[in-house]
Amino acid sequence: MDCLTVAMAKGRIANQAIALLQEADICFSDFTDKSRKLIFMDDSNSIKLIFVKAVDVPTYVEQGAADIGVIGKDVLLEDPKDVYELLDLAIGKCKLSVAGFPEKLNEQTQLTVASKYPKIAKLHFEQKGIRTTIIELNGSVELAPLIGLADCIVDIVETGTTLKENGLVVIEDVAEVSARLIVNKASFAIKTERIQKFIADVKTGLEVYS
Ligand code: PRP
Repeated sequence: MDCLTVAMAKGRIANQAIALLQEADICFSDFTDKSRKLIFMDDSNSIKLIFVKAVDVPTYVEQGAADIGVIGKDVLLEDPKDVYELLDLAIGKCKLSVAGFPEKLNEQTQLTVASKYPKIAKLHFEQKGIRTTIIELNGSVELAPLIGLADCIVDIVETGTTLKENGLVVIEDVAEVSARLIVNKASFAIKTERIQKFIADVKTGLEVYS
């Protein structure tokens, strides 16, 4: 029997997702988050876990290199792919927010916005009738308003610590984020029963885990 391939990114969400799968009796005993291995089989040898860069998870699933993916809603909102989004895993919860120095944003009709999420940022301000210049960054986005590169940022806020330690505040929320389970459309048509069972097992795990 072919195995189901599940793509996810290493890190906090993967650790929580693996703990969640364990509650569903899908166990990866060989997995440790210190390992540099990129492929792990579950103990029943029927599920293959592959680790890819977070932004690439939807691509692996859309292209059929993985049947299933676990990925944050932020990535799906920024770069929608032709996949089924079938389950909110309720892990990796955070918000996408606008942050900065509120006093500097009053009455502005034109903003320079730094973000790892240029499309989300542009659309958010467009809907409010505010013109923007978007500066795409790949990390440490909070630095941009501190050194005058941008008026504000659109970024992930989880605990709020990064903002607080850099003297920035949330100005408004843009979207709620959590990890989602996505499925390749052809896989779902061909391996319907196996994928439905996987999802049912994950739902059972969710009841225990949450
Ligand atoms: C993310 C995000 C914020 C931070 C928010 O960055 O872009 O910077 O986490 O978390 P907090 O609210 O709990 O402080 P990440 O750790 O991915 O690093 P990066 O800045 O290199 O993107």
